[in-house]
Amino acid sequence: MSKGKGTKGGKLSEAQIAVHWKEEEYIHPSPQFIAQANMTDADVHERFGLDNFPGCFKEYADLLTWDSYWHTMLDTSDAPCWKWFVGGRINASYNCVDRHLAKYKNKAAIHFVPEPENEAPQAITYQELYVRVNEFALMLRDLAGLKAGDRVTLHMPMVPELPVTMLACARLGIIHSEVFGGFSGQACADRIHDSGSRVLITMDGYYRSGKFIDHKANADIAVETAKKLGQKVDKVLIWQRYPGETRSQAKMVKGRDHIVNDELAAFAGKRVDPVPLAAEDPLFLMYTSGTTGKPKGCQHSIGGYLAYAAGTSKFFQDIHPEDVYWCMADIGWITGHSYIVYGPLALAASSVMFEGVPTYPDAGRAWRIAERLDVNIFHTAPTTIRMLRKAGPDEPAKYDYHFKHMTTVGEPIEPEVWRWYYEVVGKGEAIIVDTWWQTETGGFLCSTMPATQPMKPGSTGPAVPGIHPVIYDEDGKEIPAGSGTAGNICIRNPWPGAFQTIWGDRERYVETYYAKYCKDPKSKDWRDWPYLTGDGAMQSEDGYYRILGRIDDIINVAGHRLGTKELESAALTIEAVAEAAVVPVVDELKGRVPDVYVSLKPDFDGAKVGDQVVKVIETTIGKIARPKHVHIVPDMPKTRSGKIMRRVLAAISNTLDIGDVMTLANPDVVEEVRVLVQGKEKVAVKKGPADIARFGDDG
Ligand code: WT7
Repeated sequence: MSKGKGTKGGKLSEAQIAVHWKEEEYIHPSPQFIAQANMTDADVHERFGLDNFPGCFKEYADLLTWDSYWHTMLDTSDAPCWKWFVGGRINASYNCVDRHLAKYKNKAAIHFVPEPENEAPQAITYQELYVRVNEFALMLRDLAGLKAGDRVTLHMPMVPELPVTMLACARLGIIHSEVFGGFSGQACADRIHDSGSRVLITMDGYYRSGKFIDHKANADIAVETAKKLGQKVDKVLIWQRYPGETRSQAKMVKGRDHIVNDELAAFAGKRVDPVPLAAEDPLFLMYTSGTTGKPKGCQHSIGGYLAYAAGTSKFFQDIHPEDVYWCMADIGWITGHSYIVYGPLALAASSVMFEGVPTYPDAGRAWRIAERLDVNIFHTAPTTIRMLRKAGPDEPAKYDYHFKHMTTVGEPIEPEVWRWYYEVVGKGEAIIVDTWWQTETGGFLCSTMPATQPMKPGSTGPAVPGIHPVIYDEDGKEIPAGSGTAGNICIRNPWPGAFQTIWGDRERYVETYYAKYCKDPKSKDWRDWPYLTGDGAMQSEDGYYRILGRIDDIINVAGHRLGTKELESAALTIEAVAEAAVVPVVDELKGRVPDVYVSLKPDFDGAKVGDQVVKVIETTIGKIARPKHVHIVPDMPKTRSGKIMRRVLAAISNTLDIGDVMTLANPDVVEEVRVLVQGKEKVAVKKGPADIARFGDDG
């Protein structure tokens, strides 16, 4: 082990002090891993250098099968809406299914593991996937009347019918928009409305923590709410968790609701050719939270996205067709789209899907699955790693599985948790990649190349080939590379996996991601349009990046972004609530969770408000957003212009230094709120993580 080269000199930045940044030792991949790795050529980073941009990405495009080959790698004429592989015609369903039949038709494409342990795992071969995708695509066309360019909202749990649905859409060029199954009917309605979907695809129910969840009821709420918002849904297609039997108590609406498993009979044995689509046609929308209430529909392309998902899956997930690959994310998030469905299936992998929670019925469940399926590539998030460690720190050793490769994604991982992952879960045999990216970016931005670059716990690693980050300070000055100083991390160049725009809101796309550091808003040259990730980061001397978290007011709960504004507006729907402010609070398991502050309207009784706020947040956003505490306060600390000082509340929730509050309109209220939350005694003030210390700074 050699020492990871870190920050030189004694001068530490604010952020470094805040995160107690310490350079960790390098850990090197084993010779066994290197011997079998997909990418062992250390020159790949050079080959993808800026000098070879954008031509380097031909290597990614050539992993796919094109109906007609593209003529222009990158078209910047509509900057900053980049077009990749222009002139190309391609189909994602063909690339993930049909083209593998010749060699792999009898190999598992998907291993579905139901949550109830008395239901055996199901292996769905590429041939079987092909049959199901064809039949359902025909139903989409002939029963639902959908065609290329139409949007359709999916609100589905972790069942194989979800990738079947996605790939059936992709076969015809229908743009799918999957809403995380755990989201409420109302959250689903917002996304139906924004995307203009007139068809909703769902399932009667599914298993979660030992309970059968009646999911169809959400569809009824979603359709009703969408209608009020102005979007009519005329068809709801309902898959059955147990074919032939509907397990939902919700009533069927005649003419609107169709049980997929009944209607499929009409399409049995039929096939429909994949439609050759333009490379830059949209493949799907994935909604993600922004700083204002309305979620943003990130629009991803077919050609660029699929090339990037396939390329990064090959080189960074190190997937070979003979591997058994298990990504424990939910397909309702981008991780599942890129690294359960599109990337792995484009490579003819066997991809595992697990319906339930990894600690149910006990802390050994995940490892029993790994043993039974002989999984050798494992992919999850720090929040889950912490949960598994808490529930059963010694469980992995009891099971006979062997990983060659593991991934952590979604939020920074504490070196201590990293080491448990490496030593206990990975049994010291598996390499780890810490992949940093976003819903918007389609695939990885930073990660070590598993066979050629050593791991460093807590660091995401250097940029991946073809990605060229730059860290700016607030004034747009470049922070010197490798200086260990924190700033706003941006990407200098476009790349094929990047989203194309925010659905229906180009202005917001430009404003949110490009306006801050744009050098010339009229320019058609990509060099003038650095992409703002919204994360704070620092780069060590060895080129490895350390991600410090969001610089705006997003809360990253269990690796997923929640807009504070969305939560606040939910709290404000309670009659008694006058004002609401949501701040992140450090949580041992989930990283960050929301703390809600509310003040009441005069003459309202606060007795039930706490429970009401929790409930309304759960129904409008989902259980994932459940607040840690709801604090009922006499007033909010405010600036003289009336802005709620979320920074102050975040400091109180996390027992951090509150700083100077004398310029506030109501400084006395700060101490009142502090006592309410922390008690009379002054709690020792500690330094907090940078994202919390900075939270709400730029409002
Ligand atoms: C935000 C994106 C990436 C897919 C799942 C979440 C944080 C992501 C890491 C990492 C530190 C990370 C960032 C990013 N993040 N990966 N390896 N280390 N932070 O997608 O919901 O779009 O969230 O998650 O803050 O901006 P998302």
